[in-house]
Amino acid sequence: MKPFLKWAGNKYTLLERIKAVLPSGNRLVEPFTGAGSVFLNTHYPTYLLGENNRELLNLYHQLMHGQEQFIHYARRFFTPDTNQAEAYYKLRDRFNNTRSLKLKAALFLYLNRHTYNGLCRFNSSGHFNAPFGKFNRIYFPEAEMLNFIAKASQAEFVEADFLTTLTQVQLGDVVYCDPPYVPWSPTADFTCYSGQPFSETDQQALATKAEQLANQGIPVIISNHDTTYTRQLYQAAQVISFPVKRLINCNGENRHKPVQELLAIYQPSS
Ligand SMILES: C[S@@+](CC[C@H](N)C(=O)[O-])C[C@H]1O[C@@H](n2cnc3c(N)ncnc32)[C@H](O)[C@@H]1O
Repeated sequence: MKPFLKWAGNKYTLLERIKAVLPSGNRLVEPFTGAGSVFLNTHYPTYLLGENNRELLNLYHQLMHGQEQFIHYARRFFTPDTNQAEAYYKLRDRFNNTRSLKLKAALFLYLNRHTYNGLCRFNSSGHFNAPFGKFNRIYFPEAEMLNFIAKASQAEFVEADFLTTLTQVQLGDVVYCDPPYVPWSPTADFTCYSGQPFSETDQQALATKAEQLANQGIPVIISNHDTTYTRQLYQAAQVISFPVKRLINCNGENRHKPVQELLAIYQPSS
């Protein structure tokens, strides 16, 4: 089933490719959970789900805690009146200023469905600043949220940097890492989800940690763009590459352009 959030870099359309290389195990560990496409569409006995986006984790916690009541509460922000620029900017201000974690979670869902391209963008002061999306129709993802609640009983969520999540990995686990993409070209920007860019040093630290875990007997799979840089980065892994259509902003125009995606597979050494 689809995740209930629109999420940049989500792997919903690549699930079959990813599932084909994920081995079985006691638990799937995802240090970059995002909207949870892989978690929601695999069948491990348990999951450890890490993510450093505080607003995303708060939404997951409020949904799991409040269940149908939270869904009912969040729905009140999805009306024809709130699908207008003026209302959007008022609710965005409310999101940025409220101290209520429940309201913040419901408004994060509202913003996710009403913002331009589902963009999750914060300024340097931590304020959400993505513009209004001007959608004709807005979908309220109730069925997808109910599915998430059911599946979440198998999962432990942690608000953590990826390296912290990876310290909790044990023998018997399988690790799937979906970090923010490296820029697909030297002129493209690094993807930024929560105000902190994922740097080249982070990409290298992840590759090093994956190799260490594989040496300890734990399989690790990493998704990324297939570029000269990532081929070098994942040279200790087996690499599978395939074409994907990606929305690329070039010269101010949005174009669907084919790019190569890879899966780096770190097989356990024993
Ligand atoms: C490509 S998305 C993951 C998408 C996910 N696989 C899906 O299908 O929805 C990358 C995620 O990593 C998170 N992230 C970025 N930097 C991080 C860090 N240092 N530690 C943990 N998570 C991070 C982002 O918030 C984002 O949700």
